[in-house]
Amino acid sequence: MKKNKAEGEMIDHENKMMEMFKKKREENPGKEKKIGLACDHAGFEYKEKLKEYLFSKNIEVADFGCYSEESVDYPDFAHKLAKSIEKEENELGIQFCGTGNGINMSANKHQGIRSALCWNPHIAEQARLHNNANVLTMAARHLEWEEVEKIVDTFLSTQFEGGRHETRVNKINII
Ligand code: RB5
Repeated sequence: MKKNKAEGEMIDHENKMMEMFKKKREENPGKEKKIGLACDHAGFEYKEKLKEYLFSKNIEVADFGCYSEESVDYPDFAHKLAKSIEKEENELGIQFCGTGNGINMSANKHQGIRSALCWNPHIAEQARLHNNANVLTMAARHLEWEEVEKIVDTFLSTQFEGGRHETRVNKINII
């Protein structure tokens, strides 16, 4: 399929970033955390900003699209990200759509995914501590970028508490 210019430029940029990630990984063995990213057109701008933000923190990303602001269907990208986490190719995922709801619902159709719609750092912290969320979902049209950074930082730096929460989380898939 012929790629449009914007998509081609994104792929070039991504390839350059992946080369840099590889180099940084070699320089800092054992420090890497792989994060999968996904979005629809409404979340494209924030997904791109997040990619740069994570890169600046030496965190490797796998970008499952979309790759422009052209109108797309959010499940197509949520499913790719979800499958990569289920296959353990990526440790955690972060995704955006306009409200967060559509892409969140799509990811949560996967048995191995616990995707949490988070709108402030406290919710993100609880989602990791209590729910062992492995995907962070945000509403790109309803959050300022500065808030997104705080939510992401909290999500990535918080570990699952286990204990009584483990029993509850284990019951999520029993229907
Ligand atoms: C796209 O217009 C919008 O519907 C989508 O980004 C999301 O909000 C759906 O849940």
